[in-house]
Amino acid sequence: MPTPEPIPLVIDTDTAQDDCIALLVGLLDPRAELRAVTMVAGNVGFDQQVRNAFLTCNVAGRLGEVPVHLGCRRPLVRPWESAENVHGDGVGGMTMDLTGCAPEREHAVDALIRLAAERPGELSIAAIGPLTNIATAAIKDPDFARNVATLYVMGGSNNARGNITAAAEFNFYVDPEAAKAVFAAGFEIVVVPWAPLTLDQAVFAQPQLDEIAALDTPLSRFFTRVCAATLDFDRSVGIEGTTHPDSLTTALLLHPELIRRSARYHVDVETAGELTRGYAAMSWGVHGLEPNATVIEQINPQAFYNQIKTLLTLPPKPPRLGGFGVGGGSCTAWLGWRG
Ligand code: RIB
Ligand code: CA
Repeated sequence: MPTPEPIPLVIDTDTAQDDCIALLVGLLDPRAELRAVTMVAGNVGFDQQVRNAFLTCNVAGRLGEVPVHLGCRRPLVRPWESAENVHGDGVGGMTMDLTGCAPEREHAVDALIRLAAERPGELSIAAIGPLTNIATAAIKDPDFARNVATLYVMGGSNNARGNITAAAEFNFYVDPEAAKAVFAAGFEIVVVPWAPLTLDQAVFAQPQLDEIAALDTPLSRFFTRVCAATLDFDRSVGIEGTTHPDSLTTALLLHPELIRRSARYHVDVETAGELTRGYAAMSWGVHGLEPNATVIEQINPQAFYNQIKTLLTLPPKPPRLGGFGVGGGSCTAWLGWRG
């Protein structure tokens, strides 16, 4: 069986908690050719998210190998909404010496446009935060949507409960105008919805968390620390385990064999409603609406868990000294982190 070609991808992220695990997937999965990390306003303060992204690259032993680009620091129209009540700082209080770590000078939106245009139809994107960067890129470059192979979007719920409100999932709630624009832009879209999918099939329960902790590797310790704050919140709202919508999105992009069932839907996002701001209307084909997305309905939960657990057994890649940067970004040696 020939080894499949690595998949060129960008992860667009509001790096906190499970975004960090999604970055580990992109950084360490042999099927991934992670071309860039692009930052977008979402979970926690923007500069904290950037620190979280560098910390995650550092833990993976790939600091300085993948360019980090700063994107939109707030939604298109609305003021930024925080999820710090859920995630704390997003990395369980871990810090690192960021001396010498700098993001690229090129804006994330320009990097997304450039990387997609360099290899039209080859670059996929895992969009695991609000869709502000993606919408802005599609507005700025009419060819962007066509140049992107597949846009995997973590967002919305499939005719099911929201999380930040009863109606809306966080990523679509924070920037509903961007989400609406993305679903009308002509991308080849795959949607990983919050509910019912990730609540039913991608929550790691205590016995699974105990197995991961028992690995006692640098990556498993990072996982446990990063997920701790959100686990407390999850339990406080009746979710008995850690939630993994972002790492599932990236895992499905790289391993479509984890998908058991999906279907074509017409997806549109509410921007005018007060109670329904950010609600994702996912029409399953009986309302005379042209489908514009594939929505994942069922995965193989055990295979996904095994995928993440195996990743966490990996030793970090050998630390990389020295700087790097195509646009002025640079990072120095593998600095470890202080817990
Ligand atoms: O609603 C789930 C999304 O918001 C995920 O991207 C996760 O980062 C959460 O904060
Ligand atoms: Ca996210």
